[in-house]
Amino acid sequence: MEFKNVYLGRRAVRRYKDKEVSLDLIGEIIDLAGFAPSSGNVQNWRFIIVTEQAKRQQIADAALEQGWMLEAPVYLIVCNDHKDVEAHYGKLGKMYSIQNCAVISFGVMLAAYDKGLSSCWVGAFDNEAVQRILGIPEDMDPEVIITLGYGDETKKASLREDPRYISYFNSWGSTSTNFPSHLDKLKSLVDIKKQIQKIKKK
Ligand SMILES: Cc1cc2nc3c(=O)[nH]c(=O)nc-3n(C[C@H](O)[C@H](O)[C@H](O)COP(=O)(O)O)c2cc1C
Repeated sequence: MEFKNVYLGRRAVRRYKDKEVSLDLIGEIIDLAGFAPSSGNVQNWRFIIVTEQAKRQQIADAALEQGWMLEAPVYLIVCNDHKDVEAHYGKLGKMYSIQNCAVISFGVMLAAYDKGLSSCWVGAFDNEAVQRILGIPEDMDPEVIITLGYGDETKKASLREDPRYISYFNSWGSTSTNFPSHLDKLKSLVDIKKQIQKIKKK
């Protein structure tokens, strides 16, 4: 798939078909996503693939009772094995370890989309509860829950901020009139209606 189509096609999907996802496919996705960058190539991400209905129910409850999550047949829990990163990078280690997990999570979502799956990043959850439910050791942090499955909704991306209003040059606050935005070229691919509603609400 063309990069632009993968990047714009991947959306936060919260409706899923009642269709099993093969472990083989999940393995393929993790293989591909694993080529993400990480500090010193430490790859401190660890995964728990959750398919059991009872466990998914408990996790959805621990995620502020986001009931929609139950439709997704697979949760990929991205865990942060931060010890080595912290030992190696000292003060910066904690931040790097979290950044590495964020990078891999997005990689997983893009790879999943390329393989025909939909996903949603879930960050609102009780870490300790998820740790308990899945038997995650105390020195390992669950960072991200990614729901995975065959999507049952089609969504267009909402229009994003115009880069001219969020970019500065050489120092904070310094703008340039020579900096073009190419957002117009993407407008046919994004949901402008949503954006207008958002602006009206403000
Ligand atoms: C750090 C982070 C936490 C998020 N937490 C949740 C969440 O708990 N529940 C949820 O439904 N979506 C969550 N999302 C998904 C966002 O709502 C979604 O990515 C955003 O609205 C933009 O939509 P898009 O992904 O379709 O572009 C989270 C995304 C990120 C990056």
